[in-house]
Amino acid sequence: MTQSTTHTGIQDPGATAAQGTPVPFPQARSCPYQPPAGYGPLRESYPIGRVTLYDGRAAWAVTGHALARDLLSDPRLSCDRTQPGFPAPSEQFAKVRARGVPLISVDDPAHNAQRRLLIPHFTLKQNASMRPRIQQIVDQLLDAMERQGPPAELVSAFALPMPSMVICSLLGVPYDDHEFFEAASERLLRGQTVDEVARARQELERYMGELVDRKRREPGDGLLDELMQMDTPNGPLGRQELVALSGMLLAAGHETTANMISLGVFTLLRHPEQLAALRSRKTPMAVVVEELLRYLSVQNGMLRVAVEDIEVAGRTIRAGEGVIIMTAITNRDGTVFAAPDSLDWDRSARHHLAFGFGVHQCLGQNLARLELEIALGCLFERLPGLRLAVAADEVRSKPATSTIDGLLELPVAW
Ligand code: HEM
Repeated sequence: MTQSTTHTGIQDPGATAAQGTPVPFPQARSCPYQPPAGYGPLRESYPIGRVTLYDGRAAWAVTGHALARDLLSDPRLSCDRTQPGFPAPSEQFAKVRARGVPLISVDDPAHNAQRRLLIPHFTLKQNASMRPRIQQIVDQLLDAMERQGPPAELVSAFALPMPSMVICSLLGVPYDDHEFFEAASERLLRGQTVDEVARARQELERYMGELVDRKRREPGDGLLDELMQMDTPNGPLGRQELVALSGMLLAAGHETTANMISLGVFTLLRHPEQLAALRSRKTPMAVVVEELLRYLSVQNGMLRVAVEDIEVAGRTIRAGEGVIIMTAITNRDGTVFAAPDSLDWDRSARHHLAFGFGVHQCLGQNLARLELEIALGCLFERLPGLRLAVAADEVRSKPATSTIDGLLELPVAW
């Protein structure tokens, strides 16, 4: 029998024995830079399988890269979380989902109108103008780390404050308030109880509302100020719209990037050869960042619900059924990325789905790339002896209560 390389990149002469086996979603990662081991059978259900959610309901799980791109461009899939079949990853999510999030949970044409307000503020040129400020923030945090350590806890000393300070700077939010909104955003994403999540959302909304009121009295020069002055086809944005838009950007802009930094550092420290290539500058930082985005897929699932029947790969997704694009698996599709489980600077990772695809593709992706290039590049340059301060198996992943993966803590020395 001739062996062939499958979509998993594994030499597999056999059939996909586990085709159709339901698998729980989401699951925690045991190795922080690998998809959860429990998704194994799902990787064999190519390009689409089934998962079961916390409440026992089933949803479709898209595991093939090409199918994921097709479906993310298909208007028959909706982001509207209020639809009864929308796949909720946790009870907390299910309870608060009636409150829509701008852009992320809005379908076209309303989504398009919201996105057009923000696009001019996220162009490549606009992001490039943030470079000096990002550099200044990174230098400032590394200075503080060097003054106080070694050792240091990298998540709280660097990975989280860095993107928080950047998004505050972009929006015109006073950084003095960062501890409040970092904690509130964390509870919003990972609160243990429904009450905790609802309270976190209320606190964030109250904070942003007060900030809007303050800015009306004393205008500043951030994106929030510009949005307040903007004249849309329906007139100026109201207080509630401003609160919702800026709260969404604040949350979207720091948690994912923070997780990419801490997980990226851990992954590099566990791959000495690849780290050496980075340190010798043989591999450009832009290449490192792109491959890390593919490899780590911190946003591990994109959630949708079908609004019409859709025929795919010999299956029918019925209207009202939940669909999850399994980013961490589609980014390891061996038909697109050879030897997908290895971290390889020589491949072209550009077509990964870490920022999504289609009309909802990440608005902040170029900003995130710039932040990651500067943060990771400067960290390893300034601290050439950077190493883990605990055994690798003591580094704990965040629990699987949302679709975003990351590290709880990363103790380091140098
Ligand atoms: C490495 C960091 C980041 C990752 C991995 C990431 C990932 C993603 C993904 C996968 C989506 C699509 C979700 C879906 O289709 O369901 C998305 C959407 C979005 N992201 Fe990011 N993101 C990152 C950083 C940022 C930053 C820094 C910002 C803003 C400053 C941002 C703002 C947004 C917004 C506004 C959307 C919604 C776009 C829309 O629905 O039209 N993201 N992000």
